[in-house]
Amino acid sequence: MKEQLEKIYSDAVMDIEKALTVKDLEDIKFKYLSRKGELNEIKKGLKDLSPDDKKVVGSLANEISNKLEASISDKFQKFYQQELNSKLEKEKIDVTLPGKYVPQGHVHPLTSTTNEIVSIFQSLGFSVAPNECSPEVETEYFNFDMLNVPQDHPARDVQDTFYTNIAKNVVLRSQTSGAQIHVMENQKPPIRIIAPGRVYRNENINSRKNNFFHQIEGLYVDKDITFGDLKGVLNEFIRIYFGASRPTRFRNSFFPFTEPSAEVDVQCIMCEGKGCRTCSGTGWLEILGAGMVDPNVLRGVGIDPDVYSGFAFGMGVERLAMLKYAIDDIRLFFNNDVRFSEQFKG
Ligand code: PHE
Repeated sequence: MKEQLEKIYSDAVMDIEKALTVKDLEDIKFKYLSRKGELNEIKKGLKDLSPDDKKVVGSLANEISNKLEASISDKFQKFYQQELNSKLEKEKIDVTLPGKYVPQGHVHPLTSTTNEIVSIFQSLGFSVAPNECSPEVETEYFNFDMLNVPQDHPARDVQDTFYTNIAKNVVLRSQTSGAQIHVMENQKPPIRIIAPGRVYRNENINSRKNNFFHQIEGLYVDKDITFGDLKGVLNEFIRIYFGASRPTRFRNSFFPFTEPSAEVDVQCIMCEGKGCRTCSGTGWLEILGAGMVDPNVLRGVGIDPDVYSGFAFGMGVERLAMLKYAIDDIRLFFNNDVRFSEQFKG
């Protein structure tokens, strides 16, 4: 029996030596060490031996089984290490290589300017009107009729307004003021909203004019709203947006949908009021139109002008951005040159 055990041992050692894979090792383990394995078969025969022999052969069998167990697990370890090493080798990275440049996008300066203006008005108690109150494709009804713009007003002329071929009276809006009508048709006073958006005009393009641009409309309707409220709100906006030191002025003006009307100018940032190309030599740039909502407009949407009054304003986002960042050409916003837009990161 001793010889038999020694034979099993030397066979097993050879097998282990020849093993090339983890699977081979598992097979060897099964063949020699499992319950049905060769060593166990021998152990079963122990009961027929004399007590002394049983002791000798039994402990030899145990010793062999321990040794085999140990060398199989050694080899397992070796295979495992090899596999790990080759994996590490394959996945090796050189941490000293320079990193890849991943360009990072950011919001367009007109978007960030709009966001800034919106949040200033939010801090003054205004909220943004729902999107459906501010469509870019409008009917003349909202863009002109309800805003008290007479049929023969030159602003309706194809020279200024883009007419579509969707239907005779469908236009690309020339102003965000139509949002006033949408809101007032859907909401009773008190009303305190702003409506940012894109507008279109058939202009000759130059450094100050583009055939589309952006406005932010504002409307405040309640009892006892006065021109003093209008000045108070707009002056406060200007103070927050430009800082206290920037000279501004209110100027008398006319809009069909406001009475009285005004425009607000801000001192030209390029020449500090001396007069240059950007401000056509005047030293001032207009940033908004405003006024007290005309009683005709209130009546049109079923709000009694004897009970309620209000003010409205419409400001140009491009103008406001140009005046804050000293941008001297409106076209820079639209030709997507990253050398321009990258200056407005963060
Ligand atoms: N809609 C006018 C414009 O585009 C601006 C404006 C808005 C004026 C509201 C008065 C009241 O020029």
